[in-house]
Amino acid sequence: MPRKTILAMVALLMLLCACGVGEQISAANADPKPKPEPNSYEAQDFTRLKGMKGFSDQALDMHFTLYQGYVKNTNLLGEELQKLAEQDRTKTPAYAELKRRFGWEFDGMRLHELYFGNLGGKEPLAPDSPLMKMIEDNFGSYDKWAADFKATGAMRGIGWVVLYEDPGSGRLVNTWINEHDLGHLAGCRPLLIMDVFEHAYIPDYGLRRGDYIQAFFDHIDWQAVEARLGK
Ligand SMILES: [Fe+2]
Repeated sequence: MPRKTILAMVALLMLLCACGVGEQISAANADPKPKPEPNSYEAQDFTRLKGMKGFSDQALDMHFTLYQGYVKNTNLLGEELQKLAEQDRTKTPAYAELKRRFGWEFDGMRLHELYFGNLGGKEPLAPDSPLMKMIEDNFGSYDKWAADFKATGAMRGIGWVVLYEDPGSGRLVNTWINEHDLGHLAGCRPLLIMDVFEHAYIPDYGLRRGDYIQAFFDHIDWQAVEARLGK
């Protein structure tokens, strides 16, 4: 073999080796997880709730899918708003409408997380717990509070029932949230959330919303609710 050919092959071999080593070094330095986009949220997994009495797996699966849609659209709106801001198009109707829409999607996401997060319990609220004391101080008794919470949930319309803690005064308030974004009490902390959109109960209960509300009460995770109290 001519000397020039041998030298060319050696040079090519060295070049290939160098490239391979370079790739290995860059792969070793690479962050294995891509950095999250701004405003990106990940859907939480609530499949632990499946098998809960009074809630069919089919209805829960449908509800989880609806929740995932809020997460997806919250992220999508965040990205679209960021693009418009980068394009200096913040004075457009599109920017204004997407800004308004963001709260609806975000609250739909967050309220579902709080709702699923306060389900799956098996024990009633402990009589000597701090929350029970607060409920008795604010409403007179647990039964009076529960009657008011249930009555709020039985109101005509679609929305949410929220037991709020007002950190400033220490008061507890049962409140109706219309859709997802109207009626929140500014500065208050949501403790217990019940979904009374039709999709939450019609698959299993038809129009018997009261039966669904009772099933919800049978499965409140009071430890999760108490963990939301202000310290
Ligand atoms: Fe829902």
